[in-house]
Amino acid sequence: MSSIPCIPENRPHILVLGMGGTIAGLAPNPGESPLQYQAGQIGVDSLLSQVQSVIPPDIKLVSRQLANINSRNLTDAHLGELGLAVKEALADPSVRGIVITHGTDTIEETGLFLQLSCGKLAHTQSKRVILTGAMLPSNVPGADGPSNLLDALRWASTSIENCPGGIYAVMGGRGCMAMDLAKRHATSLNAPLQDSPSSKVNLINPSWLSGVKAVQAAWNEDLPIPQEGEWPWVEILTSHAGAHPETVNQWLKSEVQGLVIAGSGQGGFHDAWAQPLSKAMEQGIALVRTTRTGAGATLANIPEKDAPGCRASGVLTGPRARIGLQLALNAAKQANLVGKPLTWQDFFARIADLPEFR
Ligand code: SIN
Repeated sequence: MSSIPCIPENRPHILVLGMGGTIAGLAPNPGESPLQYQAGQIGVDSLLSQVQSVIPPDIKLVSRQLANINSRNLTDAHLGELGLAVKEALADPSVRGIVITHGTDTIEETGLFLQLSCGKLAHTQSKRVILTGAMLPSNVPGADGPSNLLDALRWASTSIENCPGGIYAVMGGRGCMAMDLAKRHATSLNAPLQDSPSSKVNLINPSWLSGVKAVQAAWNEDLPIPQEGEWPWVEILTSHAGAHPETVNQWLKSEVQGLVIAGSGQGGFHDAWAQPLSKAMEQGIALVRTTRTGAGATLANIPEKDAPGCRASGVLTGPRARIGLQLALNAAKQANLVGKPLTWQDFFARIADLPEFR
């Protein structure tokens, strides 16, 4: 762990956790090909030194590099380590807030994971955890990382009137709940979009804030983080024209514990999958239906009646439904070990049925 500027870690500070991403990326020819680069090349200390001259002097920082990866390579182990680091920091009285620099490709998964595993704790400790990233690598003209990082540091450290502790994200000057940020364009500089109304980070909007408070009131217990090596294996399968039963059948021979079906339209799947998916459920594989359209909710028993046990994802996208199902399967297992007869569907319902201001 290192400090920028160097302060003892027991003094009040903002903890900055580095995960990598384009914000830490380098382009070999920044002037000519700014979009040809490698993510996760420079350390979080270097990112902080880029903004050091404009950081308000009352913000003391401690940094910690947890990973330096392209976030498409994010693993269960990375998420587990990040979740534990955030929990530890939330419980540490010397930490005032937490900033996480992260790749935008899978920031959607990490945002939901942190909400479900640490959202209640952040709220009760009145600390903000702010995820941020960038669309341009750090060494190209007009790189957006420094301003996003600065916004995140300010938001994590200032007592913006009435904005409670919680898990947030900031990109392009706008803040949202981290569970609402997702990349929605392959190349656009505005690709990480909020799925919900967002707020300018320096001007919290009351209707957005009431949505945040509704979600926080409903989220009354964090889910356990699976132990390393015990994350449930969950895959996403996309239904499409010309789908073959074999696509599902091959999973029946594996140890997969859950399948998220990214269905067409309202979350329906190809008729060729009906029988193999019934078999999957008979074998005890958990099944969640979502939509591949990228927007809108997937509702129970629409367009057809769901098979018993299959759960619709509500507003959760495929990647979010996958994280939700992993945590729900793990939570049910932990509950059963202490004699509580709860199912993954009980836990998944708490996630999928969060108030929709998104
Ligand atoms: C990544 O997700 O690590 C690369 C892309 C990005 O950060 O925008």
